[in-house]
Amino acid sequence: MKIVVINGTEKHGVTYRLKETFLSAFKTEAEITEYYLPKDCPNFCSGCTACFTDGEAACKDRLYIQKVESSILQADLIIFTSPAYVMHASGAMKAFLDHLAYRWMPHRPATEMFGKRAVIITQCVGAGARSAAKDIKHSVSWWGVSYIKVFTAALMKDMVWDNLSENKRNSIEKKICRLAEKTSRINYAKPARTGIVCKIKFMLCRLIQKSVYDKRPESVDCRYWIDQGWLGKNRPWKNKR
Ligand SMILES: Cc1cc2nc3c(=O)[nH]c(=O)nc-3n(C[C@H](O)[C@H](O)[C@H](O)COP(=O)(O)O)c2cc1C
Repeated sequence: MKIVVINGTEKHGVTYRLKETFLSAFKTEAEITEYYLPKDCPNFCSGCTACFTDGEAACKDRLYIQKVESSILQADLIIFTSPAYVMHASGAMKAFLDHLAYRWMPHRPATEMFGKRAVIITQCVGAGARSAAKDIKHSVSWWGVSYIKVFTAALMKDMVWDNLSENKRNSIEKKICRLAEKTSRINYAKPARTGIVCKIKFMLCRLIQKSVYDKRPESVDCRYWIDQGWLGKNRPWKNKR
């Protein structure tokens, strides 16, 4: 199986340690590709909207984005990690997610995403890990992924892992090992089931594209929906791989 990890920080700190603990359940059997932000996606989205109107190849940062995205599309399991920064995902993670706005369902979601599985790992000192995970989950669910598991932890008081009490450390590690074990038992040869919420979102976006079709059928997004057969009877969850 293939795993891709999008690390929301380059630091080898607590987030890194939790991610490594999670991955240890997969290390013997999985091919793991890791990206570190901001190194692997160093620029902000400039807001030019060229990806929407002219296609993703028009993005000034296409070389960075295409590389990470191609790994995501090939992966069976996508892992996102981030510490909480001011109650949200790291700025580097947000900048990366902005670059993939064109993959949101109202635009040009990738068929492969509808069968994928994702895990989000976030942590903080006091509060913010949940909202950081929510930032990431929001994008990933709008890319078409239904199977999304979230791990969050609050270290409380001590910012440094080694300063944590043994009890606290053990309880965090136990929790992430449980999730890793559960996730490693999945049969990845079988694509994940597309949930009802995802299907409803897709059908709403289809209505939007149908109305665009009446006015601007040549638009890049509309052309994509026509080519996928989604304005007809085809659906991404029927042809995930
Ligand atoms: C810019 C910045 C903002 C932060 N904001 C929060 C926050 O809102 N809530 C919180 O509990 N911790 C916050 N922290 C603390 C980190 O989330 C915490 O130290 C975390 O364990 C760092 O993970 P790392 O070792 O992987 O870098 C912040 C840290 C930084 C550098």
